[in-house]
Amino acid sequence: MDCIYFVNMETSKSSIKEITATTAFKVRHPVLREGKPIDSCQFTGDDFPTTFHLGYYIHDELVGVVTLMKNSYKELDHKNAYQLRGMAVLTNFQKRGIGDALVKKAEEMILARGGTFIWMNAREIAVRFYEKLGYTKHDVPFTIPKIGLHFVMIKTL
Ligand SMILES: CC(C)(COP(=O)(O)OP(=O)(O)OC[C@H]1O[C@@H](n2cnc3c(N)ncnc32)[C@H](O)[C@@H]1OP(=O)(O)O)[C@@H](O)C(=O)NCCC(=O)NCCS
Repeated sequence: MDCIYFVNMETSKSSIKEITATTAFKVRHPVLREGKPIDSCQFTGDDFPTTFHLGYYIHDELVGVVTLMKNSYKELDHKNAYQLRGMAVLTNFQKRGIGDALVKKAEEMILARGGTFIWMNAREIAVRFYEKLGYTKHDVPFTIPKIGLHFVMIKTL
């Protein structure tokens, strides 16, 4: 797959491309599953036809990834909902606007697919990042064992 969707981002050296799940593991693994087996990077639904993965490249280096899955959130009856998963930027590249650019591109692509709603299970440390992108906390926080406190966050597009 690996087709280029967008060029000329923070500099002309950057691009966001649609990538495979396996390619996304290259950033998911060190950032979200460090020290765990590579299999722990796999999400149910990674290979569904309605799922897509985006990668942020600087030159040819993959530095950030995000995955979007068509999936409604339990009690919210949104038929055109997507779940954002596996949001990760390599440590040395964080706080440069890469995560922001990936989420905005994902939102654009979801809208183009007829999606109207996005939700995610956000790690506590990432809540402010999502709030800056217009997401709000929904429901009470919960703990994922070995990962920590999470908040469901939502946004209507
Ligand atoms: C969370 C993460 C994806 C953000 O990506 P990023 O490229 O570093 O974020 P950006 O540079 O695009 O930040 C956009 C804005 O959010 C803010 N922000 C980013 N991460 C933040 C954090 N952890 N806490 C508070 N604010 C944060 C930035 O300061 C920036 O604000 P500004 O526009 O006012 O300058 C990245 O830090 C990361 O991969 N973290 C580790 C894995 C993780 O927690 N993933 C989320 C799982 S739910």
